[in-house]
Amino acid sequence: MKKIAVLTSGGDSPGMNAAVRAVVRKGIHDGIEVYGIYQGYAGLMEGNIKKLELGSVGDIIHRGGTILYTARSEEFKKDESQHKAIKNLRDLGIEGLVVIGGDGSYRGAAKLTEKGFPCIGLPGTIDNDIPGTDYTIGFDTALNTVIESIDKIRDTATSHDRTFIIEVMGRHAGDIALFAGLSVGAETILIPERQYELDSVVKKLNKGIERGKKHSIIVLAEGVCSANELAQKMKEKYSLETRISVLGHMQRGGSPTGFDRVLASRLGARAVELLQEGKSGRAIGMQKQQIVDHDIIEILKQKDPLPEGVYKLSQELSI
Ligand code: F6P
Repeated sequence: MKKIAVLTSGGDSPGMNAAVRAVVRKGIHDGIEVYGIYQGYAGLMEGNIKKLELGSVGDIIHRGGTILYTARSEEFKKDESQHKAIKNLRDLGIEGLVVIGGDGSYRGAAKLTEKGFPCIGLPGTIDNDIPGTDYTIGFDTALNTVIESIDKIRDTATSHDRTFIIEVMGRHAGDIALFAGLSVGAETILIPERQYELDSVVKKLNKGIERGKKHSIIVLAEGVCSANELAQKMKEKYSLETRISVLGHMQRGGSPTGFDRVLASRLGARAVELLQEGKSGRAIGMQKQQIVDHDIIEILKQKDPLPEGVYKLSQELSI
């Protein structure tokens, strides 16, 4: 393989730049030309593709966002768009593509692979919702951003004896809420993977109040409901006053943690190796500290399991 390309797609995540850098540097190290596709699949359809050099990825390992920019493209779901994309790649002599993104990006990579163009998927999303990897690139950084924010909110919650509902991202997955909730010692963690009874949430808060605890933190995954909705229910049904904080897109920014930089570098380099080995339609991940790869179509059929041990522990420690 002499020429490959790389793109980032879907919601950005801290560490995407480190992954792009790894693909480019490993490729050049192995004598391959590497092309960057700008604005994800939208850019691929438009032919927004440029050759990257060693210097193109200098000074980016520590930066959040993605130098290749990103987009979510409805247009790319069409067959004709995928054929156009493959033509644009082949016209430049590109033989393999590394896609860094979440499940929507994997779906695009699977489609291109089905149509005969070799693609490798790298899990880049803060949500940690991709099967076949223990962690996605950006999850650890987002988690630390959330922890830092909640620690600050806890200070003022304590001073004012208040209950705070903190809404965090994650789409349909509760990993950010679960890991952050455990890390900050939240009184309640609400995630979409587990049903909850508002009665029991309030009972638990009241039990805490009886013990002399006047402030509480509820970490709420956006996949359950909005903080506003929960706050309203608590007020209407239980006359419970709360304050809400929606952390929003700040969770997607910032300098990647060491963990995310190392993960992104390892996965990015492995993607280049897989293409050189003639592999296609693989989703790379890290499981039990080992870099692994799975059939991307199989990965898309699975549901990412909730780390049961972490959930159980969070329940045991937040009594
Ligand atoms: O998938 C990453 C993510 O940040 C989700 O956690 C969130 O639901 C979504 O993207 C937000 O998307 P957008 O940036 O398009 O509003």
